[in-house]
Amino acid sequence: MTSKHTREVPVLTIDGPSGAGKGAVAANVARRLGWKALDSGAVYRAVAASALDQNVSAEDVDVLVALCDDLPLSFEAGDDGIRVFLDGQPVDGRLRQEEVSSMSSRIASQSAVRAALMDLQRSFRQPPGLVADGRDMGTVVFPDAQIKVFLDASVEERANRRYKQLKEKGKDVNFLRLFRDLEARDRRDRERSVSPTVPAADAEVIDSTAMTLEAVIDRVLSIARERV
Ligand code: DC
Repeated sequence: MTSKHTREVPVLTIDGPSGAGKGAVAANVARRLGWKALDSGAVYRAVAASALDQNVSAEDVDVLVALCDDLPLSFEAGDDGIRVFLDGQPVDGRLRQEEVSSMSSRIASQSAVRAALMDLQRSFRQPPGLVADGRDMGTVVFPDAQIKVFLDASVEERANRRYKQLKEKGKDVNFLRLFRDLEARDRRDRERSVSPTVPAADAEVIDSTAMTLEAVIDRVLSIARERV
């Protein structure tokens, strides 16, 4: 249950498709405001990784729901994104693996899994405020959020950014495959019947295709300062 007191804690939601830069924007904005951060994608990724580790399929809803019960997750706003810890141990590397990305998108279309993760996500709403990044932060999880942003960018630009990131890490990547995977994931996230990736009616939509990260951060901070 969310108490009245909790509902008064300001929330800034940043929703949008994969690769739009939500994580970097959310982490920087959280740091500058001195607020907490929630990477809700990592919540789905943590369930997906645990399902893969235990050979649980994306259709085995009862077991997936049981896996949602014990997720000692915590977050820290870093320089280039929100860092994720499970039981205090950093798990970013594992959670970003391609097999986890694909599995997380599949389990995220199960409404029972989404319902099972609701209270956990809302429990991160703590003073002095929360920056929450995801797909349905402004529409479903925090519909009463004071500040809502929907961060978009063209699929070409998002694939390019991801390609550069992976190359910089010395990974061997195939651009076309990355582009197609991103398109498939977008389609699944946008067209699913439960909590699809769409802007909340009261969200400010920012198209970051031709914007620098710094410009997006400044824009989000100025929206935040107008509203709290
Ligand atoms: O943002 P991300 O790529 O880390 O998210 C991983 C998957 O989880 C993504 O395919 C969509 C899903 N997701 C979701 O359905 N709802 C959220 N609030 C966050 C992520």
